[in-house]
Amino acid sequence: MTSTNDIRRSFLDFFGKNGHERVQSAPLVPHNDPTLMFVNAGMVPFKNVFTGLESRPYSTATTSQKCVRAGGKHNDLDNVGYTARHHTFFEMLGNFSFGDYFKDRAIELAWDLLTKEWGLPAERLTATVYHTDDEAFELWKKISGLPESRIIRIPTKDNFWAMGDDGPCGPCSEIFYDHGEHIPGGPPGSPDEDGDRFVEIWNLVFMQYEQTANEIVSELPSKSIDTGMGLERIAAVLQGVPDNYDIDLFRGLIAASEELTQTRAQGENKASHRVIADHLRASGFLVADGVLPANEGRGYVLRRIMRRAMRHAHLLGSKEPLMWRLVPALVAEMGAAYPELIRAQPLIEATLQQEETRFRQTLVTGLRLLDEATEGLPDGGTLAGETAFKLYDTYGFPYDLTEDALRARGLRVDRAGFDTAMATQKAAARAAWKGSGDKASEDVWFDIVEEHGATEFTGYSGDEGEGVVLAIVKDGQRVDTAGIGQTVEVLLNQTPFYGESGGQIGDSGKLTTLKGFEGEVEGTSKPLGKLHALRTKILGGELAVGDTIHQKVDSDRRNRVRANHSATHLLHAALRRHLGTHVTQKGSLVAPDYFRFDFSHPKALTRDEIGAVEAEVNAQIRSNEPVTTRLMTPDEAIAAGAMALFGEKYGDEVRVLSMGRLTDNDYSVELCGGTHVRALGDIQLLKIVSESAVSSGVRRIEALTGEAARRWLSEREAKLREAAATLKSAPDDVPARIASLVEERRRLERELADAKKQLAMGGSTARSEGPAAEEVGGHKFIGQVVDGFDPKGLRAAVDDMKKRLGSGIGALVAVNDGRASVVVGVTEDLAGQVNAVELVKVAVATLGGQGGGGRPDMAQGGGPDGSKARDALDAVKDALEKVAA
Ligand code: ALA
Repeated sequence: MTSTNDIRRSFLDFFGKNGHERVQSAPLVPHNDPTLMFVNAGMVPFKNVFTGLESRPYSTATTSQKCVRAGGKHNDLDNVGYTARHHTFFEMLGNFSFGDYFKDRAIELAWDLLTKEWGLPAERLTATVYHTDDEAFELWKKISGLPESRIIRIPTKDNFWAMGDDGPCGPCSEIFYDHGEHIPGGPPGSPDEDGDRFVEIWNLVFMQYEQTANEIVSELPSKSIDTGMGLERIAAVLQGVPDNYDIDLFRGLIAASEELTQTRAQGENKASHRVIADHLRASGFLVADGVLPANEGRGYVLRRIMRRAMRHAHLLGSKEPLMWRLVPALVAEMGAAYPELIRAQPLIEATLQQEETRFRQTLVTGLRLLDEATEGLPDGGTLAGETAFKLYDTYGFPYDLTEDALRARGLRVDRAGFDTAMATQKAAARAAWKGSGDKASEDVWFDIVEEHGATEFTGYSGDEGEGVVLAIVKDGQRVDTAGIGQTVEVLLNQTPFYGESGGQIGDSGKLTTLKGFEGEVEGTSKPLGKLHALRTKILGGELAVGDTIHQKVDSDRRNRVRANHSATHLLHAALRRHLGTHVTQKGSLVAPDYFRFDFSHPKALTRDEIGAVEAEVNAQIRSNEPVTTRLMTPDEAIAAGAMALFGEKYGDEVRVLSMGRLTDNDYSVELCGGTHVRALGDIQLLKIVSESAVSSGVRRIEALTGEAARRWLSEREAKLREAAATLKSAPDDVPARIASLVEERRRLERELADAKKQLAMGGSTARSEGPAAEEVGGHKFIGQVVDGFDPKGLRAAVDDMKKRLGSGIGALVAVNDGRASVVVGVTEDLAGQVNAVELVKVAVATLGGQGGGGRPDMAQGGGPDGSKARDALDAVKDALEKVAA
């Protein structure tokens, strides 16, 4: 028997031998077509090559392309397990010609492979052609020698293949294999064609046209070929089994689930084993291609697939999570052909295990509720939509899981009732929303969310990709188009642009279309916590709702944001280790050029503490440990050691970031929706540049990473060199030089003050008697004006005067920058006769000032008019005369 792996290889070898480039399967998440949920045909990665938008260095190719048909237009999920040929995941073998060969060579190659290489008997084969395609009819006759009765003209869309409403298309020719009379069914085009006897094994599409909105609008630049053959089907034919699930590959997977569940794939259990085998493949490949279970978009399709399989594992009596234990069997069957499975094996296992552990917590209660709700329902009865909604909302049962659970019992679900319950809940959420209070603008966002759901964020794994414009908002109103010079908010079905939240600043970057539209994204916000609104200035062309645009995040800026965000996590962990577990995050700002981190701590950090924290974070950075992300419920995350973050709103699922090592533990575990580095070495360097108080009990650290930190250090060094040059010393000696300069300056200041005082007290020499006393109003009096004398020294100077006088009055006026300060002293023996306070008031008034005060023996004051200093002394003398008179 030829194995499935051999058949895949032999197909690719055959076309390789015939001059085709062997091209690796593209990832399941389409890179060039945002309208598609998953790649669902072999030609998808080549769509733009057919239409001439993209060119490749080859004109013929062959692939074995991974495909998923679940969710979106082609949805086979509901049938999987119950039919012989439905899969959520399958492989499509194909050969392609981009303007190279056309119908004749395509038919010739197909016929040769089937009948010569693989030896299928011609009498088992039948071909169909589009009813008007005489050329294909004649070519089949000539090349294969099939009788006209087995070249069937089909008038329906079955023989006109289109990728979707938009894209390349053309008439096609299908090849059918006849399993034999013993199986019921008729040839294609006959009334009983749906039977299993004639099975379509290969579709040759003669790509010729391009359509828009389901109408042919143009011819392709050149006639091309796209073929698709389901590997599972051809394997069934070549292995002589009528059922895809009986091929070696599926038997291998089913044997593994039989063994682990200790049940046989027979009777009632047969469908469950098939569902498990099929969904294991879809889950494994989707996770390997970067999809993780979520409540929106692709992630939700994956979750539906996983949970459907998990219910079947439960039906088989599995008491512990099962799916993750089947991953080795999947890798054994398919890892050689798809090495990404081997690389992602730990992630696939962990993701499946977590999802199943979580789902099991509600599965049993949910199933009990379902049993109660359906008790007594007659065969063919209908479950209330509200119950299905409760199962969805409270127990995490995707709608199709409930349907699947009732299917075996012949029951249906009231879909309309489910939709109504969902709409009611959304309306209640809208009514309860307390946002900015600007109702008009929030209504716009609610409308968009209700119409289109949340924006799918693709930026965890990349910073570039396509998106379809769902809405354009200008000044709070929805518009259909926007033109050059305008600034609008652009909402897309999926985007790599991070919406500002959790302290991390929104992304900026570029938007373009092939039609010449060009926009600059200046920032991205996250209205309602669900939408990513790209604030875009239109630089060229026009933008319209429905356009497919190419989005490119400014990746240099994003990388700096990543480094800063991861650094906040390391800093948080380091602060808790060095200051204590009372440290909790109180806010943060993660920008491209720096970050700040606020945290609870009662006092300023010492230099030593800052140094230790910084050193430890840098040691973690140098370890270059990978950063890992897991999805968990908040409770699981807390149990895993995560600290909840400030101000984040969580759904029933959170991303848990682990980074760094500390002996056997993660250094940091936090809940975070932000974007992070892949490995800690990407942060390069952390430098704390400030530590300050925000409010009582809350401190703030500002820090730099990477190039910004290096530049900061280098600028500091330049300043040090500059200082050293000025000091004429080596940089290393600068602190000692400065210390000695400061000491010297203090000494000089002291000396200068002494000198000034002495100068003021009378003369130019160091020791002098000062001005002589005169006789005023019967008392000895010394009056003096001094320039540039520190007013603080005045009282001491007047005390000196008093000592020299023995008995009398001393008055000193100091003039500094035009202002005057005055002190008057009276010796004790004159107490009761002369009052210093009264005298000083006279002086102050003369100096243009007000008041003046002190004690009767020593008083002071001042005034703005220093030029009146001499007059002030004269006024004091006059006053003394008057007291005496
Ligand atoms: N693109 C064609 C198909 O999917 C071959 O059937």
